[in-house]
Amino acid sequence: MKLYHSPASPFVRKALVAAHETGLAERIEIATIALTPVASNTELNRENPLGKIPALVLEDGTTLFDSRVICEYLDTRHDGPRLFPADGRERWTALRRHALADGLLDAAILCRYETFLRPEERRWTDWIDGQRAKFRRALDALEGEANDFGATVDIGTIAAACAADYLDFRSLDDGWRDRRPRIAAWLEGFAARPSMQATRPAA
Ligand code: BEZ
Repeated sequence: MKLYHSPASPFVRKALVAAHETGLAERIEIATIALTPVASNTELNRENPLGKIPALVLEDGTTLFDSRVICEYLDTRHDGPRLFPADGRERWTALRRHALADGLLDAAILCRYETFLRPEERRWTDWIDGQRAKFRRALDALEGEANDFGATVDIGTIAAACAADYLDFRSLDDGWRDRRPRIAAWLEGFAARPSMQATRPAA
């Protein structure tokens, strides 16, 4: 399998953490590419018409995207504990947390693009504030249930860890821990997992 990859992408990281947790990381060839929303990659565009990473090319030539589909696919390729619980409350909790964390990331990345990529004279402060408010509400929601995370390792907690860590990586909200001690303490433990350590983006 070949994974189109950028070391800074938290969605790529989530897929890679899933690969490590499922014991599949060594079967994935990494194809690192450079891209931004305004500079796409021709090779990637051939595999994923949306031009987005991660994209996973399978042995039969099929390409899977986005990160949710890739993570779920990887979870069908191993015999260990499921990252996507099969059914019941456990499943919907994991999927809801996954969606919450991905939404947090969508808003955080839009903030990053708006402040880093967009020329200063074209920035829209209200829009940045709206995205920031969105990811802060998502963090508050994670804080509200962090005590229930315990030692759970599933797609919900993996996504939550990758999302919160991205805020630190891009310094998008340096004070986020101050009002969210439970998620901060949980992240400290989760981030020590070998899967998270192996996928840490370089500063
Ligand atoms: C980043 O550099 O922060 C980034 C890179 C790829 C996708 C999303 C974010």
